[in-house]
Amino acid sequence: MKNLTVIEHPLLARALTRLRDQSTPPQAFRHHLQECGRLLACEATRFLDSRPVRVRTPLALASGVELKRPVTLVPVLRAGLALLDPFRELLPEASIGFVGQRRDEATLHPETYLFKVPDVKKADVFVLDPMLATGGSAVSTMDLLRKHGARRIRLVCLLASPEGVECVTRAHPDVPILTAALDRRLNDRGYIVPGLGDAGDRFFGT
Ligand code: PRP
Ligand code: URA
Repeated sequence: MKNLTVIEHPLLARALTRLRDQSTPPQAFRHHLQECGRLLACEATRFLDSRPVRVRTPLALASGVELKRPVTLVPVLRAGLALLDPFRELLPEASIGFVGQRRDEATLHPETYLFKVPDVKKADVFVLDPMLATGGSAVSTMDLLRKHGARRIRLVCLLASPEGVECVTRAHPDVPILTAALDRRLNDRGYIVPGLGDAGDRFFGT
């Protein structure tokens, strides 16, 4: 799993623990998921390419950097919306695309119900989805992004299953996957175990 990075950070691990806890109420769940989003955003943007620039301080010229390419954030609806604000805090200039994926509970196959994404040909693209379970939603999203010319994609999730990582790696071997934890397995309903349950339902209180 060489394209997988499991981020180790005590604050991320603590927030994830709160999210896993079934007694965490929706308001606290939202708070902790966004807390995780901020830490994931910091780590996921660590390797963005930059180039040198010069700026004039009030005293002298100084060397600095700017990002080499524009950034596009692509939350996978619904649950991916939870990660959007934390990423936008760090990347206010990023353009945003939306992909709606609904998992058929019987077949576990994704069904795309929305694809509204700006020009991504020259962008660094972050696909945001807290849960990487079978991998179907992520692969379908990235297939569509590729079809629209995306060349540099990173997948950011909170929890991943070994099955999901394998599925993404097979379909998109060049896509780095960042996650806060790699869980044990999927159950027969396609849920990550131990996981945290249904991320979208818990975040939106549905
Ligand atoms: C969840 C989650 C992912 C998907 C992961 O979405 O947010 O998008 O399942 O599962 P997969 O890896 O097996 O495809 P869901 O379909 O429940 O929709 P929601 O976000 O609207 O709740
Ligand atoms: N989607 C979720 O929200 N949770 C899982 O465990 C799997 C898919």
